Amino acid sequence: MDSLLIKGGTPLRGEVTVSGAKNAVLPIMAATLLTPEKCVIRRVPDLSDVQFMGQILASLGAKVSVNGDTVTVQAGKIKPFGDYDLIRKMRASICILGPLLGRLRHSRVSLPGGCVIGTRPIDLHLKGMEALGAKLTVEGGYVDAKAKRLIGTDIFLGGRAGPTVLGTANVMMAAVLADGVTTIESAACEPEVVDLAFFLSSMGARISGAGSPTITITGVKELHGVEHEVIPDRIEAATFAIAAAATGGEVTIHGARPDHMSAVLDKLRDAGVRVERKGLTLSVRRNGTLRPVDVTTQPYAGFPTDVQAQMMVLMAMTPGLSIITERIFESRFMHVSELARLGAEVSIEGPSAIVKGGRPLSGAPVMASDLRASAALVIAGLSARGSTLVNRIYHLDRGYEKIDQKLRGLGARIQRVEQP
Ligand code: UD1
Repeated sequence: MDSLLIKGGTPLRGEVTVSGAKNAVLPIMAATLLTPEKCVIRRVPDLSDVQFMGQILASLGAKVSVNGDTVTVQAGKIKPFGDYDLIRKMRASICILGPLLGRLRHSRVSLPGGCVIGTRPIDLHLKGMEALGAKLTVEGGYVDAKAKRLIGTDIFLGGRAGPTVLGTANVMMAAVLADGVTTIESAACEPEVVDLAFFLSSMGARISGAGSPTITITGVKELHGVEHEVIPDRIEAATFAIAAAATGGEVTIHGARPDHMSAVLDKLRDAGVRVERKGLTLSVRRNGTLRPVDVTTQPYAGFPTDVQAQMMVLMAMTPGLSIITERIFESRFMHVSELARLGAEVSIEGPSAIVKGGRPLSGAPVMASDLRASAALVIAGLSARGSTLVNRIYHLDRGYEKIDQKLRGLGARIQRVEQP
């Protein structure tokens, strides 16, 4: 199992280019199941989650080929059953439920796995499928959904923590081939949902309102093949921006969508980081000491839960007190105990982490627990004095394309080491 060995203390400097968004490409790959025609997806990041999704599509009968950052899928003849072992490895595999149900009127997928960040129910996905007319059974770790007909209807998808991103994607993908009109209320507004809606519309679907809390889908009889370029990964871009600030460096981030990152950029500016945006380029620089800021995670356009851990590292290095409140996922503070090993002072009170910042961090061996926690540990290691060994980095490889190479390009002293 690989680890990352980081020698900290070097400010990151230089230029880096953002990859395509993991959270956009996974549902888009699932959406290729909606047509027997060929779909070409460009700007696909080379991630283990993307490989898993390719394998899942292949296990359903689709032809999948990869050429550089282009993935081609042709789901000519497919079956409704997914491979349990593949599907349980990745939470996003749940989003094959909607397209299989839409196209075949039958879908059986295993209850998904993925990052261990609290309980991750799929009740809203199932509620949506049922509302469209599917009969569901949950048995032996599988969800089986069958429908003679799918019929458009009004579906409220707001949950305890607000809208659901993949739930919205799933219902949209089932509804595009349903009879009549479906209206999703309390839909997720994330840019990745908008990118999926754009992909589906290019396939011939009739969708309006994506990006707002009300999405209307008018079912069509069939969809056709399409070519599409995935949006840039706003979470990766935010991770580089925070790493630049945390190490006291200056980084230019190319190929980003700053308009998808307003909440993060606003907080960084409040903290005293210099952020300049010019088209698709972001320049981030830290001048001197930062100020503590409070952060609360929210659905888009609020501060993303996927950047909470990285921001905590920045606050741990900033003199003063800051409160980081997690409103999307319970137990998404697994990084706190590992950050403490590097010297960060953070205590947890219910959904909030109280960060007493300003104590210098010093390197130590740490264990990555989930994808974004791993990114936070890498930033902490880059900022700390001495050496940090981040273990279990397979989490990072799920969501960050060539992160070690990209960081080395910015002057970081970071190496992948194989652990026996
Ligand atoms: C997606 C992202 C993930 C991000 C998350 C929130 C992908 C592949 N993953 O995950 O990186 O952290 O959005 O921005 O796109 N919930 C329910 N019932 C459900 C579904 C969700 O109660 O049926 C709850 C969840 O427990 C959580 C909240 O709703 O509290 C938001 O989860 P959701 O938006 O569904 O996350 P994902 O789509 O799985």
